Amino acid sequence: MTTATSFDKDRAKAFLNQMVSVMNGGAMALMCSLGHRTGLFDVMATLPPSTAQDIATAAGLHVRPVQEWLNAVTVGGIVDHDPETGLYHLPAEHAGLLTRAAGTLNLSNGLQFIGQMGKVEDDVVESFRTGEGVPYTKYTSFHRLMAEVSAQRFDNGLLQHVVPQIPGLEDALNTGIDFADVGCGSGHAVNILGQAFPNSRFTGFDISEEAIGRGRAEAAQLGNTNVDFVVVDAAQMNQHEAFDMIASFDAIHDQPRPDPVFAAIYAALRPGGRYLCVEPNASTHVHDNHGRTHAPFLYSVSTMHCMQVSLAAPDGEGVGAAWGREQIQERLAVAGFVNTERANAPHDRTNDYWLSAKPPVG
Ligand SMILES: C[S@@+](CC[C@H](N)C(=O)[O-])C[C@H]1O[C@@H](n2cnc3c(N)ncnc32)[C@H](O)[C@@H]1O
Repeated sequence: MTTATSFDKDRAKAFLNQMVSVMNGGAMALMCSLGHRTGLFDVMATLPPSTAQDIATAAGLHVRPVQEWLNAVTVGGIVDHDPETGLYHLPAEHAGLLTRAAGTLNLSNGLQFIGQMGKVEDDVVESFRTGEGVPYTKYTSFHRLMAEVSAQRFDNGLLQHVVPQIPGLEDALNTGIDFADVGCGSGHAVNILGQAFPNSRFTGFDISEEAIGRGRAEAAQLGNTNVDFVVVDAAQMNQHEAFDMIASFDAIHDQPRPDPVFAAIYAALRPGGRYLCVEPNASTHVHDNHGRTHAPFLYSVSTMHCMQVSLAAPDGEGVGAAWGREQIQERLAVAGFVNTERANAPHDRTNDYWLSAKPPVG
């Protein structure tokens, strides 16, 4: 048992090493984000061991910043470097977790959030003083980034894993149902479903004009005539028994208050309709999250974004991204949902898939 007066030198030494790893890991996160955004990882995955100049040329970039980045990712253990030849190489074992070709295994895509969070650090510090949160408008690249990160998941899993996992859904979508996505962001999920199931009708609801604009543009580009988008506060959707199935993907925990949104979703479902609520896989209790692989990232993104945008709204509850299984289950039940079951999807390491139903009449 540690007392206030004892000082464990070994523990302090171990913590020093931990903090140095944090410092280097944080820096590498930014380097990975750069490697993703500049396309350097994708290019390097196709090249044999190469000079900095050849890598820069292949990526269409200037050599000096590429050289410095290569040195950073070399000492960071991401890229191999041969001191004899001066050549750099991205090993296949690393490319499989860093490139667009890696699909849902690409970790560098999500690491863009680190830079995004850094941009609002001053506002977040201020929010610690005022308690007033940070509004969505401060996160200037959020919707672009969210769309890119979630597209990686939707493109590789929505039709392949999520739809088939829900009993009877594929048949119903083929026959023709009304399906809504609440907090749909840039609407890629709705557009994928609209293309795949022409007999069904899809509506995406989101409060962001910018995100809905992207969804509409993609629908037009794809020629999706069975897809509609509505800019609205999800708690005020005012839809009455209009949908057979509603989904929300990572979109409830950063709402001002989840309960009115669950109530609005419940009201919008026809009797016997189903609700798929996808939310970060976490416990409500911090001690249960201790040791979970993604927990530090999840709480940090929440501290920098999810909890902040919720707190910034009038009456914002700020439940946070790790509001967790216990709360989700309880609040779904309070809203009236029944037969709630939790599943996980093989393409998505970070989320729980909650399937609930609105009771049929009678
Ligand atoms: C984390 S993003 C997820 C977006 C999308 N579902 C995806 O997976 O890419 C959360 C979304 O909820 C939306 N949102 C936040 N508050 C909202 C509200 N009060 N009403 C409707 N949408 C809201 C945001 O605009 C954002 O697009």
